[in-house]
Parts: sequence; C-alpha cells; structure tokens
Amino acid sequence: MEAILDKLGRPIRDLRISVTDRCNFRCTYCMPKEVFGDDYVFLPKDELLTFEEIERFAKLFASLGVEKLRLTGGEPLMRRDLPILVEKLLKIEGINDIGLTTNGVLLRQYAQPLYDAGLRRLNMSLDALDPEIFGKMNGRGIKPDFILSNIEHAQNIGFEIKVNMVVQKGVNESEILPMAAYFKERGIMLRYIEFMDVGNDNGWSFKQVVTKKEIYDMLNEVYEIEPTEQHYYGEVAKRYRYKDNDAEVGFITSVSESFCSSCTRARLSSDGKFFTCLFASVGFDLRELIRSGLTDDELLEKITNVWERRVDRYSDERTEQTAKNRKKIGMSYIGG
Ligand code: GTP
Ligand code: 5AD
Ligand code: SF4
Ligand code: SF4
Repeated sequence: MEAILDKLGRPIRDLRISVTDRCNFRCTYCMPKEVFGDDYVFLPKDELLTFEEIERFAKLFASLGVEKLRLTGGEPLMRRDLPILVEKLLKIEGINDIGLTTNGVLLRQYAQPLYDAGLRRLNMSLDALDPEIFGKMNGRGIKPDFILSNIEHAQNIGFEIKVNMVVQKGVNESEILPMAAYFKERGIMLRYIEFMDVGNDNGWSFKQVVTKKEIYDMLNEVYEIEPTEQHYYGEVAKRYRYKDNDAEVGFITSVSESFCSSCTRARLSSDGKFFTCLFASVGFDLRELIRSGLTDDELLEKITNVWERRVDRYSDERTEQTAKNRKKIGMSYIGG
C-alpha cells in the first residue's frame, strides 16, 4: 500500500492509539503523585472515543498506509473490554501487527482473553528488580515479583514479550546489570529507554539521562553482544544479540541518538486528537469531526492534510531550553 508522506518524506506506517488517560501506577517520570493526586480530573467517559469510533479511525488510517497498531494508555488494561477492541482491530484490512504496551498489573486477569482475541505481542514496563527502587518509581509500592509473575504467566500463554526499562540517573542505574541477567536467562528482550522530557511534569534535565553508550559499556564489560538487524523500518529500538544464547537486548535512544528521520508514527489520544509527534503541544481534533457526521472521504482528506504538513523532529532539536520551555502533551495522556 502506497502510504501518504509528510513534508520530510516520511510515510505514515504506525498508529499508536491511547485508549484511556488513567493509570493504576504513578511512575515518578510520567504521572508524579504530586500532580496526579486524588483530585486530578481525568477525561469523562463521553469524551473517550468509543470502540466503534476507534475502529473507524483505524480503518481510515490503514487506507492511508498504516500497517501497525499499538494500544497504549495511561494503562490500556484499565479500559473495560479491551479484548473486544483487539478483535475488531485485527480484522482490519492492511493491519498486520498489533501490540499492547502495559505495566502488567492487570495481566493475570487479561492475558488469556487478549491472547484469545488474537493479540500476540506485549511490551511491558518494569524499571527495577529491587523492591524498594521499583516501589518508589511506580509510586504505588507495587512489588516487582508481582509483575514478574505476570510476565511469566503471559509468556507461558505464548505471548512475545519485550520489557521496557526507563533508566534515570541516580534512581535505578544499579538495576541495569541485574535486569540484563534476569531477562537474558529467560530469553526476553529487555530494552533500556533513555529518560525523556515527555510531558511537563517530570523535571527532566540532560543530567538525569543515562545514555545508550554508558549502558552499552556496562553490558560490554560482562557480556559479548553484537548488533542485529532492525525488525521493521523505523523501529525505535537499536537491537543487539548476546553471542552465547541468542537473547536480545535493545536501546531506545531518543536523547543521545534521535530517530526522527525515520519516524513513521502517528498518535491518537483517547479523546480523539491526532498528534504527529510525541512532543507536540496541540493535536488535531478528529472526535469533533467524526461526531459531526463527516463521511469517510471527508475524514480522510483531513487526516491526509495534517500528515502532509508534518515537519516534526523534536528529538533532533532537543535542548535544555526546549525541554523546559516548550509546552507538551502529557505522556500518560498520549501513551508514549
Ligand atoms: P515495538 O517496536 O512495536 O515493539 O514498539 P515500540 O517500542 O515502538 O513501543 P513502546 O510503547 O514499547 O515504546 C517504547 C519506548 O519508545 C517508550 O518510551 C516510547 O515513549 C518510546 N517511543 C516510541 N515511539 C517513539 C517516538 O516516535 N519518539 C520518541 N521520542 N520515543 C518513542
Ligand atoms: N522517558 C522515557 N520513557 C518513558 N516512559 C514513560 N515516561 C517516560 C519518560 N519520561 C515509558 C514507559 C513505558 C513506555 C510507553 O514509555 O515506561 O514503557
Ligand atoms: Fe502508568 Fe505507564 Fe505512566 Fe507508569 S509510565 S504512570 S505505568 S502510563
Ligand atoms: Fe517521531 Fe517526534 Fe519522536 Fe522524533 S520526537 S521520533 S518526530 S515522535
């Protein structure tokens, strides 16, 4: 399928769909408790896209070149009946891959229904094996053993799993090697994510970033690793293979080696705004258009116009100043 291109020649290939802005964690780098407290106002239900609306948008995006969908949140499993949505989305012509990014808390309950609905890929967030460090980072005192047992449960069901670890200087660097050892042994791909200045609430500065090079050097002291092929064009992770057991490890280097030149990702928020970059400040309101009765052709024209005007390359241009001064959408609202 010929995909539409943006101003920098990048095709639209992936759509990340946030299904809720709520989460049962309060990760310090994403939804700090001080900001997302008991009185925080989340989106009311009638402002969320319905499953039917999401399905219609996914079909429209697929007809413009999108082949891959990713469901995110907040925490996507907090949206009731998610397996029903997965089943609908998998039937769409042109979509050949669906993934789900989750913190794993609700997987004991949902892994099997999701698998039965046809989902095969899970990206799970876990930042530490040490209970104290993890409990602090997730803001809810949730124990790593609980998440690890859910990972094992999902792996036994048959899911292909990747684990995401956000690395923050002075917070969880001590977990870099223990996490590598744990997931290497289990043949699960661990991906180290450089701490990013997403949203406006995490007090980011360059000083708090542990770069790919620093992590690579630590791993290289202990293991022999070699680069492997990307799995798809524009993949965010740089992949490596352990020479002795074929397990893989990856790095998501938005800060030290940005990947905007091959960024094929569009994002749809749970209230139906279309964003062309994770670091955008405004989105294009598609919900209003769909609810005002536009036809598919009219919607396609609007979406195409937005993509064809796209010039975003935030991570290429990031400075301490843009990180501080630019107003950005919230991470938990758009789902990474
Ligand atoms: P697969 O490659 O399909 O497994 O998924 P993914 O790695 O794209 O998705 P995931 O939700 O696991 O995201 C991993 C990390 O990459 C998160 O921290 C995301 O915020 C980050 N990420 C994903 N896409 C982008 C992007 O376009 N720009 C930036 N800067 N970060 C991104
Ligand atoms: N920097 C890097 N990654 C982040 N994530 C959330 N906030 C940040 C941040 N500030 C990660 C989560 C999850 C993925 C969707 O994004 O840990 O794995
Ligand atoms: Fe929730 Fe994920 Fe944000 Fe943590 S990173 S608060 S799990 S949405
Ligand atoms: Fe894409 Fe924006 Fe991320 Fe660059 S910063 S890779 S343009 S989402």
